[in-house]
Amino acid sequence: MTFEIENVSKSYISKNGKEKIVALENINLTIETGKFVCFVGPSGCGKTTLLRLMEGFEFPDEGTVKDDGELVTKPSRERGFIFQDYSLFPWLNVLDNVIFGLNIAGKPVEESKEKAYKYLDAVGLRDFATKYPHELSGGMKQRVAIIRSIINESKTLLMDEPFSALDVQTKHKLEEQLVSNWRRNDRTIIFVTHDVEEAAFLSDEIVVFSRRPGRIKKVYKNDLPRPRDRSTYEFQDFVNEVTDQIDESEDD
Ligand SMILES: Nc1ncnc2c1ncn2[C@@H]1O[C@H](COP(=O)(O)OP(=O)(O)O)[C@@H](O)[C@H]1O
Ligand SMILES: [Mg+2]
Repeated sequence: MTFEIENVSKSYISKNGKEKIVALENINLTIETGKFVCFVGPSGCGKTTLLRLMEGFEFPDEGTVKDDGELVTKPSRERGFIFQDYSLFPWLNVLDNVIFGLNIAGKPVEESKEKAYKYLDAVGLRDFATKYPHELSGGMKQRVAIIRSIINESKTLLMDEPFSALDVQTKHKLEEQLVSNWRRNDRTIIFVTHDVEEAAFLSDEIVVFSRRPGRIKKVYKNDLPRPRDRSTYEFQDFVNEVTDQIDESEDD
């Protein structure tokens, strides 16, 4: 699964119907199979739009999005998508919500449960496995929804600021879980975030978008050795370098 995005542009009509909003302009980007790629950039620069085009929820006005050589024409089970809002199935308990996708894919249930418990443990929710969504706080539901998408075995995972509302500790745990899941399963992950430090921790590559109209400003290779350590100079230098690019584009 390699994404090839060629000359992609996408515009919207503003809510009052009077203005044309250019969300993406002439985007060219190739994402190799198995890479962990982060999109960063100022709010409104088209990150979500590009992710939605890659999933097949929407289509470009110009240009093409290909996945594994094929034009993306609709969503696919091979591409998991994590939305900014988190919906669980109200009639299933936490554990069954988490393993829903694995059950659909016909995976052995006991194995799936074991896997689910590992993730639930990591985010402090083991004791809530048999609770139903209405018995959970908003933050708990969010963690369950995140785990559900991570443990599904889609070849590609498209994630739109999935951890942005979590407390730092939980966020760091989930980042580690996500990285180890990715390394085990050789998936391609596209991860949108506002947080450059998060991008530096997770990614093989960071794509920096510029302000509207959304264009790609720069693509960074992230060669920091894994496992990553946020406290090293190397790490902080890289974060600063990428952050400078984003600040600049905000001044445009
Ligand atoms: N359905 C839509 N209708 C009108 N404008 C939209 C729509 N979706 C996105 N936009 C506009 O397109 C631009 C890019 O949006 P988006 O991709 O959500 O940016 P980001 O995720 O980087 O914050 C923004 O100006 C946004 O207001
Ligand atoms: Mg967005």
